[in-house]
Amino acid sequence: MTTPSLVAVLNGPNLNLLGERQPEVYGHETLDDLRDVCRRATDRAGLLLDFRQTNHEGGLVDAIHELRHTISGLVINAAAYTHTSVAIRDALAVVTAPTIEVHLSNVHRREPFRGHSYLSAVVDGVIVGCGTQGYELAIARIARLAARG
Ligand code: DQA
Repeated sequence: MTTPSLVAVLNGPNLNLLGERQPEVYGHETLDDLRDVCRRATDRAGLLLDFRQTNHEGGLVDAIHELRHTISGLVINAAAYTHTSVAIRDALAVVTAPTIEVHLSNVHRREPFRGHSYLSAVVDGVIVGCGTQGYELAIARIARLAARG
């Protein structure tokens, strides 16, 4: 029997406060709810889930380094670091597994600084404004790409 493929979901700063933080923008679901959404999506696709959140830029870089050889796909919501971090972009550029950038809110309908992502140019797809369903869509996309081998 082969071991199911691993999908990592990395969440950046302040996403630990989901449910409490600006619910009119980010909704009422908590980070635990988001983990459950991702778990159901990976279960459906027959994939394993490694779900993490950190408030630290270097924590995201370290996680990408640690996971890069073992994952079949990566979903990343780098939160505010999306708009500032060359370090996370450089780390993602090393990842060969399919990588999807996700944002809960529609960053293009918000303040202009949120319209620019340092990460989008080095990932395979971007999903914005679909709430937690964006993570489900990203996992479904990774399952499709991973099946192609
Ligand atoms: C976010 C959008 C970012 O601009 C913001 O800094 C976040 C969350 C989103 O999921 O919509 O923290 O990545």
